[in-house]
Amino acid sequence: MGAIRVLAVAGARPNFMKIAPLMRELCARPGFTPFLVHTGQHYDAAMSESFFRDLGIPEPDANLGVGSGSHAEQTGHVLIKIEALLQEQQPDVVLVVGDVNSTLAATLAAVKLQIPVAHVEAGLRSGDREMPEELNRILTDAVSTWLFTTEEAGDRNLEREGVAAERIHCVGNVMIDTVFSNLERARKLDTLSRLDLEAGGYALLTLHRPSNVDDATKLRALFGALETIHREIPVVFPVHPRTTAAIEDRLGGARPVLQLMEPLGYLDFLQLMAEAKLVLTDSGGIQEETTALGVPCLTLRENTERPVTVSEGTNTIVGGDPETILREARCVLDGHGKVGRTPRLWDGHAAVRIVDVLERDLRGRV
Ligand code: UD1
Repeated sequence: MGAIRVLAVAGARPNFMKIAPLMRELCARPGFTPFLVHTGQHYDAAMSESFFRDLGIPEPDANLGVGSGSHAEQTGHVLIKIEALLQEQQPDVVLVVGDVNSTLAATLAAVKLQIPVAHVEAGLRSGDREMPEELNRILTDAVSTWLFTTEEAGDRNLEREGVAAERIHCVGNVMIDTVFSNLERARKLDTLSRLDLEAGGYALLTLHRPSNVDDATKLRALFGALETIHREIPVVFPVHPRTTAAIEDRLGGARPVLQLMEPLGYLDFLQLMAEAKLVLTDSGGIQEETTALGVPCLTLRENTERPVTVSEGTNTIVGGDPETILREARCVLDGHGKVGRTPRLWDGHAAVRIVDVLERDLRGRV
């Protein structure tokens, strides 16, 4: 009986912290032969390389080097390049994570070659089809064989879409595996002193969704509210490349008066999240990480695909209205932020459960 050949795919920054514990688990088990593919969707050292280094992810076995482009270009390039690789490697299963363009493209190429797909972080739905990620989620889930969910709302969404119950596995959250296995190391860094910050004495901001940054009026209004907060407590803002471009192109280079910096590595960012008074974000993953860390999070979107972070965690959906943002920020700064609890199965062992399921289902079949 041969080892199970798993071709794991990662492409963009939020994939790397999800693939790390899965690769660790696959490499540790003699029953598996993993093969890691980096699609190259994110390629800057700060958006990619530093994550491999910080998280101890093995050097990719292949890099497709697709880079940036329109959605069709990016998805299409991954599709074409990964098809050839799949034909060459003939894996028993393709493992994809999250909801980025690389996730969908790899899935589509695999299923057309009759290679089954395991989707980690399945079932999340914002209900907002204007988000490119929502389309990626729906399409990836529709054709995947194993659907690994992070929260029970995901199971319900999949059942509603007609997915058979035996394909759905609620296993917890691999992103939180990574938070817990790196927190101690992150806390030992000198990130706060390097940035001249004090624990509990700053707010941390991330902003990169097209719906927030691609519209000048919206972006200006958001920056206005955030600058008001910054007058009271420093707002630390590592700027995503998409947002840097938007400030240049849409605001004529008028940078907001906040504590701006280049994108940070995983460990620096984890320390900043863990010690923040408040986090403001439009990211998906950060809503979950702040819930696991017990830090109040204000989500600068109209909806979330991760409802457990609101019902049980520290997340509040505030949208883009400056008055609402300021009111909710005031509440946190006055010490009335949500406390929350860690959701079920967000315990640092999600990757183990996922690999257990794959081993059970594939052993004997290959
Ligand atoms: C992608 C994901 C999004 C995820 C985000 C995290 C999709 C549809 N979106 O969005 O879900 O939350 O990553 O970062 O897959 N760029 C660089 N260097 C890089 C990567 C990108 O400069 O290493 C610039 C390019 O100009 C590019 C732009 O950022 O056009 C946007 O990158 P892209 O991968 O298209 O989408 P993101 O906004 O990063």
